[in-house]
Amino acid sequence: MIKNGSSKSVVKLHVNGDSHEVTIRSADTLLLTLREQLGLNGAKRACENGDCGACTILINGEPMHSCLSLAIESINQPITTIEGLKASNIQETFVEKWAIQCGYCTPGFILNCHALAETEPNATDEVIEEWMQSNLCRCTGYQEIKEAVKTVLQAKTNKI
Ligand code: FES
Ligand code: FES
Repeated sequence: MIKNGSSKSVVKLHVNGDSHEVTIRSADTLLLTLREQLGLNGAKRACENGDCGACTILINGEPMHSCLSLAIESINQPITTIEGLKASNIQETFVEKWAIQCGYCTPGFILNCHALAETEPNATDEVIEEWMQSNLCRCTGYQEIKEAVKTVLQAKTNKI
């Protein structure tokens, strides 16, 4: 970390497999840094209070609310945003299952779904429901989102 003479520091963040130099203040959130310095706008700015999940990203593979995560605490940790999941078929499944309307909440749900598929692909309906409670959607019925997540897990475990 290099102090640049003001209250800002130049640090490197590892995002979607690449190393990026950013200039941050100690109180800068990861959400702000990803969006404003790296142009990664997939993590959405909404409640900024940890309530909605629109800002969900993965740190070390775990879903986190980037509005509550400090950029400075994320140094040397692999960060994944929705832009890093381009090769994933989850988005396609969400579209097929009508789990997307305005799309504002969708990146957060997709990252959460990806983490669940990686860590607990045999999750029961109850676990899926509990896992998704960290994310809010104002448009779709949650049933469509749960169906999409279930389909992703079934595909992961070759049940479909
Ligand atoms: S914007 Fe982070 S939880 Fe709502
Ligand atoms: S699709 Fe609009 S908020 Fe979820």
